[in-house]
Amino acid sequence: MTPQGTITKKAAKKRKDLVSLSTMTAAEINGTFELALKLKIERKAGKVHKHLEGKNLAMIFQKPSTRTRVSFEMGMRQLGGHGMYLSGNDMQLGRGETIADTARVLSRYVDGIMARVFAHSDIETLAKHATVPVINGLSDFSHPCQALADYLTLLEHKGKLKGLTLAYVGDGNNVTHSLLFGGAKLGVNVVCVVPKGYEPDAGAVAMAKDDAKARGASVSVTHDLAGVAGADVVYTDVWASMGQEKEHAERVKIFMPYQINARLMAMTGKPDSLFMHCLPAHRGEEVTDEVADSPNSIVFDQAENRLHAQKAVLVQLMAG
Ligand code: CP
Ligand code: NVA
Repeated sequence: MTPQGTITKKAAKKRKDLVSLSTMTAAEINGTFELALKLKIERKAGKVHKHLEGKNLAMIFQKPSTRTRVSFEMGMRQLGGHGMYLSGNDMQLGRGETIADTARVLSRYVDGIMARVFAHSDIETLAKHATVPVINGLSDFSHPCQALADYLTLLEHKGKLKGLTLAYVGDGNNVTHSLLFGGAKLGVNVVCVVPKGYEPDAGAVAMAKDDAKARGASVSVTHDLAGVAGADVVYTDVWASMGQEKEHAERVKIFMPYQINARLMAMTGKPDSLFMHCLPAHRGEEVTDEVADSPNSIVFDQAENRLHAQKAVLVQLMAG
């Protein structure tokens, strides 16, 4: 552990919640990466961790999940604790109990709350009223755990982050916002290549631009596919996010030119440019099998790193 890592771990420990990467410092994010890699290496070497022995995490899901649910539950178990799955529909939340009261009640039972919600304000309300840490497991606005895992994965593959260029191609959505926030803090140039009308939130872009400027990096939004030129990594996500199922057919028509296929990957001009996707992928829509299954695709490393990155977050927020 470097002296800087020790300092950043202390700083991260003071944080109560993980609601958005926009409020984390680069030092905090790097501290999380450092701990995640340590836990990952030690676990693979057979070390048993007890950082969260006897601790319990309530996991509220208002939307479906594979990765988030399993990685948080396994993460808690690997740290000596327990994760409890709660379906939003089966809770009194679904019958009108307020988010604030839910936060107050759960805080009397558990040591932390992870929630996947529709409205981002629900995560903010949970965090405001819970006396235990609250972790955003995806909202309509952001997906910070995903971006943490993604930049950790990129760091492992490229050996550095500062100065890399990530081209996000597709729908300007929750994942895009977190990639913008995280990339800007870490000095990654982020270019969003999106169809007209599907740009990321203007406020999120402006905030990321400010952070990027301070790190000597850039953030831009374009409708032109040529924006991927020079990208070290091309990232995409589904064209219709959870809750937008009714728009699916219309979106497929609009987004098809933005499909990540071999031709688009070649437009980076870099044969070693990587392909990333938060998954689940709709193969044949936003990405072809050829690209998703190519040697340049690191999508399953990203999925694995959800586990390791989140374990670091859980330790930083809940241990002690
Ligand atoms: N990437 C991600 O959050 O996947 P799940 O929806 O399966 O949790
Ligand atoms: N943008 C996607 C991400 C899924 C992990 C969604 O919100 O459905």
